[in-house]
Amino acid sequence: MENSFRNSCYLIINKVQEKYDINSQDILLWIYLNMYTYNQGKFSLDEYNRQQFMERVKSDKHFSYLCNKYEMIQEKEYLQLRDSIFQKYCTNRNISISVKIMEETYERILQESLRLKTGSYYTPKPIVEYMTTQGILSYIDSKIGNQYENLKDYFLKKKHTLSMNFILQTIQLLGEIKIIDIACGGGVFLRQSLHFLYSLNKELYQLIGRNFNDQDLIKQIIQNNLYGVDIQENTTILCKLLVLIEAQNLCGFQMGEAALHIFNEDVLVIDFEKTIGTESSFDIVLGNPPYIGERGNKSLFQNIRQWEFGEKYYERKMDYFYFFIYKAYEILKKEGILCYITTNYFVTADGAKKLRRFIESNFNFREIINFNSLNLFADAKGQHNMIFLLEKNQISKPTTLVNFAIERIVMDDLYEVLLQKKQMPQLEIAKISKDNLYDCRGQISIQSFGSQEEVLKKIEKRGNYLLDDLCYVNQGIVSGADKLTASWASKLGIEEDIGAGVFVLKEEELQELNLEDDLKSIYVKDFYKNSHIKKYHTLKKQGLYLLYIDDHNLPDIYQIPSLYRHLSKYKNILEQRREVQKGTRKWYALQWPRNSEIFEGEKIVVPQRALENTFSYVKEAWYASADVYYITAKNKEVSLYYLLGLLNSSLMYYWLFYRGKRKGEYLELYATPLKGMPICYPSAVKKCEAIEKLVRYIIEHNHDKSIVIESQMEIDQLVFQLYGIKSVEQEKIMKLIDSKRK
Ligand SMILES: C[S@@+](CC[C@H](N)C(=O)[O-])C[C@H]1O[C@@H](n2cnc3c(N)ncnc32)[C@H](O)[C@@H]1O
Repeated sequence: MENSFRNSCYLIINKVQEKYDINSQDILLWIYLNMYTYNQGKFSLDEYNRQQFMERVKSDKHFSYLCNKYEMIQEKEYLQLRDSIFQKYCTNRNISISVKIMEETYERILQESLRLKTGSYYTPKPIVEYMTTQGILSYIDSKIGNQYENLKDYFLKKKHTLSMNFILQTIQLLGEIKIIDIACGGGVFLRQSLHFLYSLNKELYQLIGRNFNDQDLIKQIIQNNLYGVDIQENTTILCKLLVLIEAQNLCGFQMGEAALHIFNEDVLVIDFEKTIGTESSFDIVLGNPPYIGERGNKSLFQNIRQWEFGEKYYERKMDYFYFFIYKAYEILKKEGILCYITTNYFVTADGAKKLRRFIESNFNFREIINFNSLNLFADAKGQHNMIFLLEKNQISKPTTLVNFAIERIVMDDLYEVLLQKKQMPQLEIAKISKDNLYDCRGQISIQSFGSQEEVLKKIEKRGNYLLDDLCYVNQGIVSGADKLTASWASKLGIEEDIGAGVFVLKEEELQELNLEDDLKSIYVKDFYKNSHIKKYHTLKKQGLYLLYIDDHNLPDIYQIPSLYRHLSKYKNILEQRREVQKGTRKWYALQWPRNSEIFEGEKIVVPQRALENTFSYVKEAWYASADVYYITAKNKEVSLYYLLGLLNSSLMYYWLFYRGKRKGEYLELYATPLKGMPICYPSAVKKCEAIEKLVRYIIEHNHDKSIVIESQMEIDQLVFQLYGIKSVEQEKIMKLIDSKRK
């Protein structure tokens, strides 16, 4: 049914497009609008034609402005519509295809570029059902107090323990509730809210024996309770249509009678009072705001920063959806509820420090559901999501923290699992106090639970230093042009050279430069990739070379003709690098060469992303890109061998897994999590020496697997002793590691 509906729509879209200059979304909306008018007018197949459509749309307060857009479409297309859509999907004058399928069909024809630019990825139904139910029940609970469990029990049809007084209060509250989705897309949260409010009201009325009229109830909900905003015009048309069709499905409610509060606006910049027209404060903000990073979308962020709102809340490296949290705060009433599904990176991201501080001082987390590696959005693979439910007040109540430890689930089961917190071995649930939710760095600890917390706290307590106290942590080099990309090659008109080395050269490219040996020793460095870093050792020479040129070691490139000949081929693109444009870098120099001492001297190197804690010691010169971090000692007393043992230990994996930064199962070994590692550095030299000795032994015998494994086990034991980790706690740590190794 779904597929044949979609195919019928695509067929009509193609046919209409052959004749008229209308884009596919507009045509799909024309099809939907026709389904709606056909159904609403209760026409028979023979009665319906172009004229009927135009007349009905013209007199409709929601859609009359669309008449011009569709005027050109002729009778023949209406006949097609009749034969392939009405006959099959509007049987008995009712729309038999679900609005969910209609919404999904629309989402599928949205161009990928538009989806990325506007963050248009629609939310799966079970998630919407859960968030809406939980959002509304939590609101009732926060307003009327301590009835959440009773209400939920009733709602799940287990038992009825609600007092008359509570029911009356709830009915009154529901009549006045204002729910908004400020990035509403096709309106899935609004439709779900309509459903939920309708059935909850109905049940409560029945409990107290009050009569009601379905149409009045639906109308009241649409007019008094629901609000939506979306920046895309077509999306708001879709949203209006689907809300009305849903209302009609619920009770045969006629189009045109209810005022819809669905607005086509940029929600971040509108004046709410003027545009939305109410006193503009809401009880619940629900939704799935657009996730858009600053990289590649600079102009979007520049635009919003021109507004007071944007400038006030902007922080470097933020995600666009943070603005939707701030906006929700601004329009929520006191004790209002904010429930969003977003990516889960903001809990530790460097670009979300300001946001976390804001949330901590203005909201209380009621619930956090961390999906980890469970993929929810079929079209956004590799994304890690969370649902959070915030209450706008500063009263510190415990947070319910739910952690998924599975990668797949039958989507239809998800609602039940979430609402009933159905016992599953792969679902961890805990109550966490506000103090424990935020760690000392202000990061939100959503990964760890009760007993894990104890171990982590112990590790932190035993650490008498942070890595930052003992070592410098630096990022590798940014050349700004490692090799010639396809787009640069086409700009320069040298497509045949795509992939040619600019600053990073292969062996034969280096030979072609014909550099004399003394120049080579200054300007050419062995270059490595982050995949060359293994635990304790690095792979040997890889046949890659970096032209290490900075503003100081080469004041004038014309003096070295071979280098000039090579780099001047790319001068046009090299000059476009930001630092060159600003005048702080010469056109032929690396963009961020750093201080060469970092690469030349003794150091520990680590790839920025790895499944395990993978640190290696390197004595000789070792140059790599910004996806490698360099750890160098702040003074001579610090032993890098000792630190290497510690950093590679099972205990540190445990700490990094729960307290560091993660993308799914991958540890993100960036400067901030590295600098925050709790290091136990005993004053008794002997304790350090034992670990140092084992590390040296591993480095010398790194090809002998059994030596490495045995020595690592010994190091792990010594590290456990240092941090005072008891055997039951050790088992917990090793269990996590074993489960990850599988
Ligand atoms: C992730 S989609 C969510 C749609 C829908 N709420 C759902 O969950 O299926 C995000 C929506 O935000 C809208 N959007 C993006 N920027 C916006 C802005 N500044 N103001 C209002 N809506 C915006 C997009 O057009 C898109 O429909």
